[in-house]
Amino acid sequence: MQVIIAADYEDMSDRAAAIVIEAVRRKPDIVLGLATGSTPEGLYARLVAAHQEDGLDFSRVVTFNLDEYVDLPPDHPQSYRYFMNEKLFDHVNIDKANTHVPNGMAECLSDECARYEQMLLDAGGIDLQVLGIGRDGHIAFNEPGTALHSPTHIAALTPETIEDNSRFFDNSEDVPRFAITMGVGSITHARRCLLLTSGESKAPAARAAIEGPVTSMVTGSALQMHSSTVAIVDAAAAAKLDRIDYYRWQQENWDRIAERL
Ligand code: GLP
Repeated sequence: MQVIIAADYEDMSDRAAAIVIEAVRRKPDIVLGLATGSTPEGLYARLVAAHQEDGLDFSRVVTFNLDEYVDLPPDHPQSYRYFMNEKLFDHVNIDKANTHVPNGMAECLSDECARYEQMLLDAGGIDLQVLGIGRDGHIAFNEPGTALHSPTHIAALTPETIEDNSRFFDNSEDVPRFAITMGVGSITHARRCLLLTSGESKAPAARAAIEGPVTSMVTGSALQMHSSTVAIVDAAAAAKLDRIDYYRWQQENWDRIAERL
């Protein structure tokens, strides 16, 4: 895993946007895996600006979101479909038919999981997967204990995740208990992963995912087995990393040969 230490949230978002923008320019029909949550909001704002100010073209881009709550309709302000429309899709020239979010309203949830997994395959797999991380080290909604080879499945959220996500709802009772989520296996099939981590509250999760043992108790740690993952960690989230000096040192040295890569 390549670890980049960013100064703060804005710097993390700038660096993430540079990677995604470059990837879209190189491959205009790229398949992007997208995440929700506060962490990637700065990235999405920069992608919108890149479209509106520099003409970044999304017309052939295909997207798959990581997850969706069970029983929240797409027009519910807390649904992940609503979030994506509001933060990104409504402001760029993407074809909404090319944007995929699991259907949490599906009558048969297991059929929906199988359908979503098949759509990922039919699209040729994800080229670049954007990820945030939960305080317990989860990626998407792969809570501790989820099999590291899991495909898209139904997840029961932990009380900690429900509590964390309750800030967007009137109260924690309103937070759905279940979600459809891409599995750790579906995520690590992506050709490249981009993990974004920001803020002091994420420091233990960043440490566990990046430097801890690979374990289903911290599903983000599965990224250590992935051959092409970049983690951009802001200084507050990097506070507990043992090898922070090395990551900084490495970064400076990489910059010296950047033009030859
Ligand atoms: C939820 C989402 C994750 C996200 C996490 C952290 O659990 N399913 O994809 O990474 O929240 O969200 P935030 O970025 O708001 O801290």
